[in-house]
Amino acid sequence: MSKDYFCEVVSKTMLNEDTAYIEFLCPEIAAEAVPGQFVNVTCFNFLRRPFGVASVDRDAGTFKVGIKIIGEGTEELASMEEGDGTWILGPLGNGFDIESSDKYILVGGGTGVFPINYLYEELSSQGKAVKVVQGFRDASQIILNKPEYVLTTDAGDAGIKGNCCDGLNSLSPSDVEGTTVLCVGPMPMMRAVSSWASSKSLDCYVSLEQRMACGIGICLVCVCKIKAEEQGQEFEHKRCCKDGPVFDSKEVIW
Ligand SMILES: Cc1cc2nc3c(=O)[nH]c(=O)nc-3n(C[C@H](O)[C@H](O)[C@H](O)COP(=O)(O)OP(=O)(O)OC[C@H]3O[C@@H](n4cnc5c(N)ncnc54)[C@H](O)[C@@H]3O)c2cc1C
Ligand code: FES
Repeated sequence: MSKDYFCEVVSKTMLNEDTAYIEFLCPEIAAEAVPGQFVNVTCFNFLRRPFGVASVDRDAGTFKVGIKIIGEGTEELASMEEGDGTWILGPLGNGFDIESSDKYILVGGGTGVFPINYLYEELSSQGKAVKVVQGFRDASQIILNKPEYVLTTDAGDAGIKGNCCDGLNSLSPSDVEGTTVLCVGPMPMMRAVSSWASSKSLDCYVSLEQRMACGIGICLVCVCKIKAEEQGQEFEHKRCCKDGPVFDSKEVIW
């Protein structure tokens, strides 16, 4: 069950000029969080901002989030230093199903590389077959990349020139066959990856990062339309924070 915890910053590194990687001490969240879940972090004393769990160290009782500065809330949170603390509600949302397959392709872009990092940690520690494709605008934006990942850049100044689908197309047929695709990134990227997976008859799950407020299903700020043909209607409204943020890509109305 998610609760509000006062969490101390135990380490902070800047991954590039506008992205902080912050490790918080919270044994409860570290013990419970599964990949794809997020936490709602307090800034300005009472407002909250959602961030995907990017890494967990259960022995140390810590978890990490990556914070890209895009406005005042992220600017305040990214300026926290070791020893500072804030209230964090979590873990929240449904997370990815990492049990029902033994073979995964993970696709990350933008701040989606943070949940993808935690997915990779968990799946590789379970000994599952996992390939990762990450896409960035250019070499200066590359963060949390590993040598074993397939790297793409729009500018072509690192890795394969192109987008994540170009990276996916570079995988061998044996890497692709029978996999489940898990994707987190900007909507156009997830839409393209979803249609790539569909063209190969692969299951694909995406994480919808709508604007959020409460994070616990009460305020309805985050509703999105999800297909509901089985219920005899075209779509139904679902709360990304509570019913998601992870959805079967076949059910998303893009
Ligand atoms: C489930 C979830 C997980 C997330 N995980 C991460 C993460 O791991 N790392 C990370 O850096 N960010 C993540 N985000 C996005 C992050 O929450 C926002 O960047 C943050 O709330 C912006 O706060 P702000 O006060 O700095 O900006 P604001 O002043 O609130 O907004 C600045 C601008 O960004 C736009 N914006 C704000 N939030 C979003 C959003 N969710 N989607 C698209 N546009 C938005 C606003 O419309 C505005 O134009 C996640 C969002 C969600 C919903
Ligand atoms: S953020 Fe309030 S219902 Fe989802």
